[in-house]
Amino acid sequence: VALVFGEPSTRTRFSFERAAVLAGAWPFVFQRQGSSAEKGETLLDSVRLLVAVGASVVVLRDATSCAPHRLAEVIGVPVVNAGDGTNEHPTQALLDAWTLRRHFGRVEGLRVAFVGDVRHSRVARSGCLALTALGADVVVAGPAALVPPEMADDGARLAHRIDEVLDCDAIVMLRVQRERLGAVEVASREEYRAGWAMTEERAGRMRDHAVVMHPAPMNRGFEIDDAVADGPRSLILAQQRNGVAVRRAVLERFLASAHG
Ligand code: NCD
Repeated sequence: VALVFGEPSTRTRFSFERAAVLAGAWPFVFQRQGSSAEKGETLLDSVRLLVAVGASVVVLRDATSCAPHRLAEVIGVPVVNAGDGTNEHPTQALLDAWTLRRHFGRVEGLRVAFVGDVRHSRVARSGCLALTALGADVVVAGPAALVPPEMADDGARLAHRIDEVLDCDAIVMLRVQRERLGAVEVASREEYRAGWAMTEERAGRMRDHAVVMHPAPMNRGFEIDDAVADGPRSLILAQQRNGVAVRRAVLERFLASAHG
């Protein structure tokens, strides 16, 4: 399994690496830094090399939306999307769905909110598609500049205040993606926290059984307080653990087809 990471990653990379080993495969980890990408080699030539030396599945994280789809058209082996730009992050959606299912015993009928920088969140986009397909009621909420109305096309309802979603069964907090903000105007740190952070006080107003999730990395003390991230409602470490099993299942499916 070739793990080709053209963007920073900690959880996704390590869990795919562990998943590959558990699936009986050998992970080749390719990162731009320290590779011939620094000498100007194209991504396609690097991936062709990895396939030539034995990779039968490629896992790709890339800053360009749809890069995995384009690679899949030409490379001749299955390509797994490990996060492409602001587009999708399908295995994160699967691990979030699995985490909810393990915790609640079902996904159908759950009310789930994604809160924060929805605009740049491939986690929210894939999450909406997966969770609505599984019968959850999904709502997205965040500052107007960070919540594109098109999210409704993916099956989500829009909310304009965090108070509107505090009665959900699960709230997935999202990182403000400073590296992708570009010209988008966001409020000051204080205004953002006042409007959108998962503070201890807000967590205290959630329903007794409700949970808080976050794909991580977290901006602790900004979109989420330590007391919530490390508190009794948090499923954040469970999400990270569950990522290994979900990614193993994805790799096994493709390894099985690659080896008949
Ligand atoms: C996310 C990502 O890279 O899309 N992290 C992850 O995969 N666990 C979310 C983020 O970067 O904020």
